[in-house]
Amino acid sequence: MWSSSISLGDELSISGITATDLAREFGTPVFIMDEADFRSRAKNWDSALKSAFGSNSGTVYYAAKAFICTEVARWIKDIGIGIDVCTGGELAVALAGEIDPSTIQVHGNNKSVAEIDRAVSVGVGNIVIDSLFEIERVAAAAAKYGKIQKVLLRLTPGIEAHTHEFIATAHEDVKFGFSIASGAAWNAIEEVRKFPSIDLRGLHAHIGSQILDTESFEISAERLISLLGKYRDAFGVELPELDLGGGYGIHYLPGDEELEPAVAMNALANAVAANCALNKLKIPRISVEPGRAIVGPTMFTLYEVGTVKDVNLENGDNRRYISIDGGMSENIRPALYGAKYTAILANRKSTAALTSSRLVGKHCETGDILIREIDLASDIEPGDLLATPATGAYGRSMASNYNHVPRPPVVAVNNGNARIIVRRETETDLLGLDI
Ligand code: LLP
Repeated sequence: MWSSSISLGDELSISGITATDLAREFGTPVFIMDEADFRSRAKNWDSALKSAFGSNSGTVYYAAKAFICTEVARWIKDIGIGIDVCTGGELAVALAGEIDPSTIQVHGNNKSVAEIDRAVSVGVGNIVIDSLFEIERVAAAAAKYGKIQKVLLRLTPGIEAHTHEFIATAHEDVKFGFSIASGAAWNAIEEVRKFPSIDLRGLHAHIGSQILDTESFEISAERLISLLGKYRDAFGVELPELDLGGGYGIHYLPGDEELEPAVAMNALANAVAANCALNKLKIPRISVEPGRAIVGPTMFTLYEVGTVKDVNLENGDNRRYISIDGGMSENIRPALYGAKYTAILANRKSTAALTSSRLVGKHCETGDILIREIDLASDIEPGDLLATPATGAYGRSMASNYNHVPRPPVVAVNNGNARIIVRRETETDLLGLDI
């Protein structure tokens, strides 16, 4: 939940820097990112994949949508893993970070012709094809540049992953990919083979996000491998790659589970080996795309308390509303997915009795609730700092300017140094868009 360089003594500190000092230097709200933790998580996924699959290991593609900026793209390059981008914007950041284009994998259910053109022209690795239209568009771009573009086909293996409906992606009724059960996947396979400027390398599935058990991943592997068998039977050759997507869950609350990289990769390796044996296939190169599991736990958000208000409820109870200086604009996940977070008093230790509280933002909306119910010290007052852990994934990356609130900066902390890697947005930035 808290990244490895954090200590929760009298005051929260990260790599020796206190919450008070961070707030004084960078203002609040602010995303504080533990660089060492990011690097070690990325490396752990890479080594877990390599040790589970040995010579059959493909690439760990960090899912940029969870959080990306130019500096993090440089870290990815330095660590030596790949990156998954799903828009032209994410591709631009990866290129700005000088990531080798051949280690970039391009996703998206509606890539524009311009996005496809740029991806092909800069020489990305795989483009993951999501619709029949895209087959022709990628083939045309490749022909234009005189290239043979490597592609995967994104498939939906019909799995009801155990997660929130909005972040499950591989059941039948979704916009993504080609369904295996309906025959759309096979149809796409036959279509791709008609174009000499594209090279079908293999199959891809991403079953959803914040998944904590390995079973859904194993079923996905089973269904994809069975299709690899059908492909070999029909065309006499085996496809060399299989990408099983991301979605590995992390812990947000005390006591939550987390899917450890080694546990996840070993379970996948067993499922892949068993199903390849069943279908008499060589084991293909296996790739994965964790986003949240790499970046999620590496950040916390630091807020300042602005008001504390006790509201008398009809049943006679009292509800304490603690307002912080951010809210649904930098963490939309509670409002959108009912996601749960915890918070701690970060600038001091309190021995005051705990009181049931509701942590809310500053937006003009009742639903701007970060934490519905949390026991916090009853002496919390304006000026105190609160920290919410595990906000690295889909926090800053989904931030908005609702109510014209400028988006917070991201500060990376490493070896006792804190530096801004994404600066705070200003009102001038926002007004600069207005004509
Ligand atoms: N690969 C593909 C093709 C994906 O669509 C995704 C996430 C990932 C990898 C990375 O998944 P991860 O390992 O981060 O779970 N905004 C939502 C999550 C949406 C995920 C969309 N795709 C949230 O805040 O929970």
